[in-house]
Amino acid sequence: PYLLLRNNFCYIQIRMGKKLVIGSSGQIGVELIEQLAKDFGANQIIAADIKSVLKGKNSAVEYVTLDILDKEKLLKIIKEHNISEVYLLAAMLSAIAEKNIQLAWDLNMKGLLNILDLAKEKYIEKIFWPSSIAVFGPTSPKLNTPQSTLLEPNTVYGISKMSGERWCEYYFLKFGVDVRSLRYPGILSYKSPPGGGTTDYAIEIFHAAINHGFYDSFISEEVTLPMVYMEDAIRATTEIMQADRKNLSINSSYNLAAISFNPEEIANEIKLIFPEFKITYSPDFRNKIALSWPSTIDDSFARKDWGWKHDFDLKKTIIEMVNGIKNSGFN
Ligand code: SER
Repeated sequence: PYLLLRNNFCYIQIRMGKKLVIGSSGQIGVELIEQLAKDFGANQIIAADIKSVLKGKNSAVEYVTLDILDKEKLLKIIKEHNISEVYLLAAMLSAIAEKNIQLAWDLNMKGLLNILDLAKEKYIEKIFWPSSIAVFGPTSPKLNTPQSTLLEPNTVYGISKMSGERWCEYYFLKFGVDVRSLRYPGILSYKSPPGGGTTDYAIEIFHAAINHGFYDSFISEEVTLPMVYMEDAIRATTEIMQADRKNLSINSSYNLAAISFNPEEIANEIKLIFPEFKITYSPDFRNKIALSWPSTIDDSFARKDWGWKHDFDLKKTIIEMVNGIKNSGFN
């Protein structure tokens, strides 16, 4: 089936196929699959991950094993399942990428280029690719960091995300590839663990508080980072994918903001629920990464262009995290 859309000049035909989520066992993948299955029907979603033991499996969704660097298999899956939309979530996060430089670059960059090329060759109609606050570096403004500013990231992950953004814009302007992207802040969630990021401390702290009453933070007490609760991050993702392309003035990746806090502030909030909770600080190499990132983000383009608005403030996020981990979270 095709959808007929009209732009300023002519009608364009969009092929309506299934949605492929790559990195389906990851922190975002597990929850995005649930949302997409709810919105479009489980039979419209194909979940792919490099791991064959798939975590958080939704029994109504079809799962396949895929290494994103295997372009041949990727194309085979796209053809076989009539895929028109790809969510490329497979990536190596900031902390773990510092320990696997070449693999991180290959995965984060070649993975994206494989997908962009298949869209250029018209095998795919639309792409979602996450960028990150890691595109910013020590020379970017720290407060209310603007959409367009100096981008001199000094981590492997940040360099890959920054370059990825450039490629996304290039493929859009040069080949008309419809790729949409958000610069996610640290994402707080409890259903599936994050895979080796710097902002992971803000998830670990909840597990530690609930299970041990004590947390030794690898980020020092005063380092403020931007964060978002998963439900908001997922809604931002589905909203930008549904937005009318002609309203999108940013063709690389949108700044996205919700809440910002430092370890001391989150620890104080947790103490209101668990008065015995204790925190100590042993900053390691990840603290240096955190120090190179913004504290707060100006996301006015997202708010203006496609109506982004976060729903979960700090208090609401904390309640969700505590209840979620107590009732059903991973340990
Ligand atoms: N949460 C990510 C990380 O810490 C940033 O995008 O690596």
